[in-house]
Amino acid sequence: MVLRAIYPGTFDPITNGHLDIIERAAKIFDELIVAVATNPVKKPLFSLEERVLMIREACAHLPNVRVESFNGLLVEFARSLDARVIVKGLRAVSDFDYEFQMASMNRKLAPDIETVFIMTSLEYAYLSSSIIKEAAMLGGCVQGLVPHSVLPRLKEKLAERGCISHSGSRNSNTEPAQGT
Ligand code: COA
Repeated sequence: MVLRAIYPGTFDPITNGHLDIIERAAKIFDELIVAVATNPVKKPLFSLEERVLMIREACAHLPNVRVESFNGLLVEFARSLDARVIVKGLRAVSDFDYEFQMASMNRKLAPDIETVFIMTSLEYAYLSSSIIKEAAMLGGCVQGLVPHSVLPRLKEKLAERGCISHSGSRNSNTEPAQGT
């Protein structure tokens, strides 16, 4: 029997913290599906297609990892793919309450699907997609914190929005992005 797991998130954009979880989960499970949520509530900076593409590029070296997008309930999507495990990363104690609530709700909705937590490596414990976007927008260097292919796309996207110049330096009078 194939042990298939699903790693969900918004990935706006994927960071090296996410990649760390993906690489470690890919060693545990036969197949890992990275499930990219549409998540319009978060008003993502990158389109769904761009987020999927960046993860595919970052995971090209992992043969048992594939990337899909989804809408609606995670457990329904997991069932449709015959995935019995949801993988989530835990960064700090502050993640626990929210993750406990999500895992409990998912278990209530689908008792046959188990959530498994992987501790994020310490070097990435402070990372989030938002903090990456904020630092980049304010002219900070995020090299080493996101996969190689994400860096130029992030600069391009922020320049398109007029937040930074094409060289990556900050334009004055810009406020940190809320994803829009
Ligand atoms: N490294 C770096 N950053 C990490 C990380 C890691 N290992 N783990 C989490 N993060 C960051 C994420 O990038 C995200 O940052 P952001 O808030 O700046 O975007 C933040 O931590 C929170 O991560 P997470 O809790 O995984 O939220 P998410 O928005 O990425 O994904 C879904 C949330 C999609 C998994 C969740 O909303 C969902 O399952 N939605 C479907 C609907 C559903 O079924 N709901 C549950 C039952 S009602």
